[in-house]
Amino acid sequence: MKKQISSDQGMWRRRVTFIMAATGSTIGLGNIWKFPYITGENGGGAFILLYLACVTLVGLPILIAELVAGQYTRRNPVTAMQIITRESQTNRHWSLIGVFGCLAGLIILSYYAVVAGWGLRYCLDAVSGAFQGLSSELATERFLHLLDDSQTLIYWQNVFLLSVGMVVAMGVRRGVGVAMHILMPLMLLALGALISYSWHLGDFSAGLTFMLTMDFSALSWNAVLLALGHAFFTLSLGVGAMMAYGAYMPKRTSILGVAVTVALLDVLFALLAGLAIFAVVFANDIAPTEGPGLMFVSLPLAFGAMPYGDGFAAIFFGLVVFASFGSAVSLLEPSVAWLNERHSVPRWLAVPSILAVVMVVSAAVALSFNSEHPAASLAGMSLFQWLDVVTTLWLLPIGGFLLAIYVGWFMSPVKFASAPHFMLWRFVLRFVTAPAVLVIFAVALLQRCSTT
Ligand code: PHE
Repeated sequence: MKKQISSDQGMWRRRVTFIMAATGSTIGLGNIWKFPYITGENGGGAFILLYLACVTLVGLPILIAELVAGQYTRRNPVTAMQIITRESQTNRHWSLIGVFGCLAGLIILSYYAVVAGWGLRYCLDAVSGAFQGLSSELATERFLHLLDDSQTLIYWQNVFLLSVGMVVAMGVRRGVGVAMHILMPLMLLALGALISYSWHLGDFSAGLTFMLTMDFSALSWNAVLLALGHAFFTLSLGVGAMMAYGAYMPKRTSILGVAVTVALLDVLFALLAGLAIFAVVFANDIAPTEGPGLMFVSLPLAFGAMPYGDGFAAIFFGLVVFASFGSAVSLLEPSVAWLNERHSVPRWLAVPSILAVVMVVSAAVALSFNSEHPAASLAGMSLFQWLDVVTTLWLLPIGGFLLAIYVGWFMSPVKFASAPHFMLWRFVLRFVTAPAVLVIFAVALLQRCSTT
């Protein structure tokens, strides 16, 4: 169990590599796909405020806890939690946080890859000019047709998963580190291009007005639960991704500094991507409350009606694929690191073994869009919706909550004494973060019970 991380996997030598990898993990479909549509459905600016509060008061302290645990133990999340519980002489069941985290990560990966596969497909469609002059019916039909075509879906999601697997198999330095140095500049360029496009050709002021309008009456408790779940999702918390990356952080890195940087970049990215999307959507008189289809129906429709639309649609969907890639790498890494460190399975073997299972689940997800398939309606929701709801609204917040409780109340303080502003951080974990998650959960549950 005490096996050191081998030098080949190693640690990143530079702080900037860590920041790129961590930011690459946090920026993903959550920022580009989910954030705009849940904001659209929950009243714009007021929801954004709520989300910012959740990121600051709940997300950030847990992000710091994950990074500290990774950096202190220098191990994969499962072993890290085992070491910490042993050294703190606390009940060893607490270490299950690491195990459940890795599992939740793989579940997310199996539906995440499906959406990334749509992105890949749409990127190629855009390059071939398929969105030119699309009508609203055709845009919807196009998306529904893709969802119905399980073979195409499975093909593209597997292409995506295999490329992610290749990077993870190449190791922490030569694989993940190098890939992030290529990915991040590309993402910045793509985002910059989209912002300037929507500024010149979209309805930027309508987008801005929508994001700044505070319609507090649209906020329900469900919206609060959504904002909380999204704060976990967007900061990649509760699945051990950040703990795994914390283990590769260069020595003497200021955790507070990197945690704040990563959270800020993540939020900034979501806001800018949201602004670009709403500006393009509003310029075409499309309502922002389209739900998950916002990105795959409304945007192709909007781009198809605008000058240079195909080129920019290709850039947009390219950005979607790049962003998903960095997140997917971090969803796979914790389990691979665990097999590799704990059971000495080489990465080239660990990756295909885990991916084989993920691919089976994602194939079932792809089939679940076909209304005749049994997975299409499991107690009223498709397998795809189930996996999303169970992970985002339950598994991630519960994993994060348990970590907050454990680190805040039970873990021996000596281990974390070097953590940034230790006393204040632990106080917040104990008296703000953990109770906030608990209250939000309790109220959401009560509400659900009273409405059924
Ligand atoms: N943060 C990613 C996103 O916003 C999703 C993710 C969740 C990645 C958990 C890793 C771990 O899309």
